[in-house]
Amino acid sequence: MAKKEAVKKEEVVEQPQREIKILYLASECQPFCATGGLGDVMGSLPKSMKAIHPEVDVRVMVPLYSDIKQEYKDMMSFVGYTYVDLAWRRQYCGVFELVQEGVTYYFLDNEYYFKREGHYGYFDDGERYAFFSKAALAVLPLLGYIPTIINCNDWQTALVPVYLKTLFHDEYYCNIRTVFTIHNIAYQGKYDPAILGDVFGLGEESRSIVAYDGCINLMKGAIVCCDVLTTVSPTYAEEIKTPEYSYGLHYIIKQNAYKLRGIINGIDVAFYNPETDKSIFVQYNGKNLDAKAENKKQLQQMLNLPVNENVPMVSMITRLVDLKGIDLLIQTVDELMKNHLQLVILGKGDARYEDILRSFENRYPNKVRIIIAFNQDLSRKIYAASDIYLMPSRTEPCGLAQMIASRYGTIPVTRETGGLNDSIIDFGTGHGNGWTFKNYNARDFLYVVRNAVEVYNNHKDAWVDLRKIVYNTDFSWEKSAKEYWKMYETLI
Ligand code: GLC
Repeated sequence: MAKKEAVKKEEVVEQPQREIKILYLASECQPFCATGGLGDVMGSLPKSMKAIHPEVDVRVMVPLYSDIKQEYKDMMSFVGYTYVDLAWRRQYCGVFELVQEGVTYYFLDNEYYFKREGHYGYFDDGERYAFFSKAALAVLPLLGYIPTIINCNDWQTALVPVYLKTLFHDEYYCNIRTVFTIHNIAYQGKYDPAILGDVFGLGEESRSIVAYDGCINLMKGAIVCCDVLTTVSPTYAEEIKTPEYSYGLHYIIKQNAYKLRGIINGIDVAFYNPETDKSIFVQYNGKNLDAKAENKKQLQQMLNLPVNENVPMVSMITRLVDLKGIDLLIQTVDELMKNHLQLVILGKGDARYEDILRSFENRYPNKVRIIIAFNQDLSRKIYAASDIYLMPSRTEPCGLAQMIASRYGTIPVTRETGGLNDSIIDFGTGHGNGWTFKNYNARDFLYVVRNAVEVYNNHKDAWVDLRKIVYNTDFSWEKSAKEYWKMYETLI
């Protein structure tokens, strides 16, 4: 009898739960170093993951760029250093650490690669991020840390799944699973086949992993080697299987579709909050959205536009590149200017777009302002002051600006592509939160923008109701972070 009981007891002894450790790797992360949406996602997804699963160990690793603000550098502590072999070079790699909201952030230090102005655009970007990817794995023993899952993001970290299948497959590394997330398939990390060994440190036997279409294609290597492939919206996950959207990678995406998922991003609703935002002229919330008018008046003053709270302010905050649909805007500006509105554009990019947009400001000095810059502070002022936000993107993997605009009570006008299609539904459906158009052409775009302006100018009551719906749309991370968790669970 006693024996039987003892057996029973043994049966109920629980196995110690394995601690889940997730490491996010990326080339940017808010608020330390960010130039776009990837930085926003890295600044918010890990924190949300920690908030919904406090028991999970969540860490993030980025390069220690020299232009990270001193106030953050002062908060970091030095953990240690090692050397990383990159083909024939031996490079120092220091590790700094900072903990915020339960998430540990590591910054990898090498002044030769990262003591430069800005993040990207150097002749040796391939080598810089190969170093970062290799160093991210090489420093793990120094940290005494073996992640359960490494979630890599975009081409800059695409070599990590490749290295784990080639150079780093010993006992220490062999149980690490990888997720590769595509934030934009347009940027793949394509290089000359000749630099396989010299820059990436890979042997001839690994060439087929990264070889594609006559080049070394780092993103292709990651797609093939990762355990799960994700992208930033369900619609984009379908689009990248087609030649129109894949920038040549649709064959590889289709071959690997069995492990592909689209999970839409959220935004950090505390970081973007008109109630607490110090950058905007007057704070507000859902109960006093009319305070947007005061923000508009002060922005008009600042930009030297006629001050009039009743003119609809239409805005765009974007990189000035083809993908963002700038050509649709250019084709329609003259028609749009026949309407009672003001147009404010903040962005930087292709010189030809900058020049054309400047010429519009010269032609319509009382209606158009173009500010050629990236400027966080001004962008928030524009989100708060505007009535209508334009996103006519040719392709948009997810898009965050439509969510940020909504958070500031500004109604988005979007094209039905990628994440825009998954986040903004046309008011015409009866359960919408913006205005949308489908085909990429100037006439359809003009039609919806005019419609939005017409509602603003002539149906004020309806406008106030629609604005409330938009403001109340929930774009917080919670739902999406749970989706990420479900995906991670399949790997554990
Ligand atoms: C890229 C995409 C954008 C997406 C962002 C974050 O910048 O172009 O659509 O929102 O990454 O995933």
